Amino acid sequence: MSRLVVVSNRVAVPDAQSATSGGLAVALRDALRTCGGIWFGWSGKTTAQTAETPTMTEVGPVTYATLDLGRKDYNEYYNGFANRTLWPLFHYRLDLAEFSHENYTGYLRVNTLFAEKLRPLIEDDDHLWIHDYHLIPLGRELRALGLSHPMGFYLHTPFPALEVLLALPSHELLVKSLCAYDVVGFQTENDLRSFRDYIHYEAGGEILDDKSVRAYGRLVRTQVFPIGIERGQMEQAAARAVEQGAARRLERTLHNRSLMIGVDRLDYSKGIPERFRSFERFLEQYPAHRGQVSMMQIAPLSRSEVPEYKAIRDQLEGLAGYINGRYGDFDWMPLHYLTKNFQRETLAGFFRLSRVGVVTPLRDGMNLVAKEYVASQDPNYPGVLVLSRFAGAARELDAALLVNPYDHEGVAAALHQGLIMSLEERRERWQSMIEKVQSNSLENWRERFLTVLRSVPTPMAVRSTGGDTASTGSG
Ligand code: F6P
Repeated sequence: MSRLVVVSNRVAVPDAQSATSGGLAVALRDALRTCGGIWFGWSGKTTAQTAETPTMTEVGPVTYATLDLGRKDYNEYYNGFANRTLWPLFHYRLDLAEFSHENYTGYLRVNTLFAEKLRPLIEDDDHLWIHDYHLIPLGRELRALGLSHPMGFYLHTPFPALEVLLALPSHELLVKSLCAYDVVGFQTENDLRSFRDYIHYEAGGEILDDKSVRAYGRLVRTQVFPIGIERGQMEQAAARAVEQGAARRLERTLHNRSLMIGVDRLDYSKGIPERFRSFERFLEQYPAHRGQVSMMQIAPLSRSEVPEYKAIRDQLEGLAGYINGRYGDFDWMPLHYLTKNFQRETLAGFFRLSRVGVVTPLRDGMNLVAKEYVASQDPNYPGVLVLSRFAGAARELDAALLVNPYDHEGVAAALHQGLIMSLEERRERWQSMIEKVQSNSLENWRERFLTVLRSVPTPMAVRSTGGDTASTGSG
């Protein structure tokens, strides 16, 4: 089997201090181990100047190639264009999106640099899989350096509706860059539809069938690959964790009260202030629950140098204090708000202890916490998932209590419904959700994407048959 080259902003180098080894990292590593290859990207470190050469770490058949980014590159590419322009825009927060020419230039510069540093590492029959909004222009840059290899791109975030995307001054180059890939994968049908709308209405391209479009002189396979989790791992972790220290201690502090839980990176897209307001509305409108239920919100800090993330942190501290001040009592705290990070296994135990999982992003590509919540439940006594209709996961987990996170009354009513729901209904809803989680595992997601990517003819195969590649032109 030919080698795989994975490129992502962050690289999960095994055992490195900065590495995050979530399920996705493990799934990509497994694929790399099977066929050998390279994982290339930012090291997660910032230095005075961007490194001249990547640091190479070999672990078995996999080479991890990481670059330290200089302060200017980090600010303009990561904090700037990726996280102050594309992130808010892709999450429908035009009000927060900043359009800075300097940051845009930095974003393109880092993508060009990544292409230049990666190019010499590529072998003839490699397949490339590039991840996420940080690296949209990378494929086009690699094509410009003469690479005609099969290249796939997967977008982990939503792809915005046409009218939202048009607000981005550089929208055309961005979509043109996506068309430099042979395969472009999205989380949901909604995201794919938005992309196809752009191709049809704005780019004057052709929608060929369900699975491909032609635009900017290229044929691109466009498909939906909803990302999943490994059910078994989460289930086992939850069963173990609920018997251990942290979960036991948490249970003791509850004094037989019910627990509602939210776990999100501290990000405005996650709808945490709106959730707190809904919780306040719940306490106001359903007074019988006062003193009987607590909400625990875990929100590890994220992208702390970006001003919008500092602002939301201040806002949440204010709101949590206000709710506890207004409703709390000497022996009961309604809202526990923690910015601490917990191990996945500990969280799985907390999920299993809770009666209601609250996952109410204003917009989310998928939201794996929703799936992890479901997988962590005790099948005989499952909790209820309250899920935003604007999370990609709502497409599959339609047996959750689906809510509009902007509608505080509606969310408050769903919290109440979750707490009073019969065990029979809880089991029925959970059964329907766990079947979906089970059937769409992370491994299935990865293999479905790679199968499509591997069906793209390699340059060598094309040369030997004298045919055309499906994708022609440099985009
Ligand atoms: O959901 C998009 C994403 O980039 C993920 O790939 C990543 O795990 C998460 O956001 C965290 O973002 P950051 O790398 O900026 O901490």
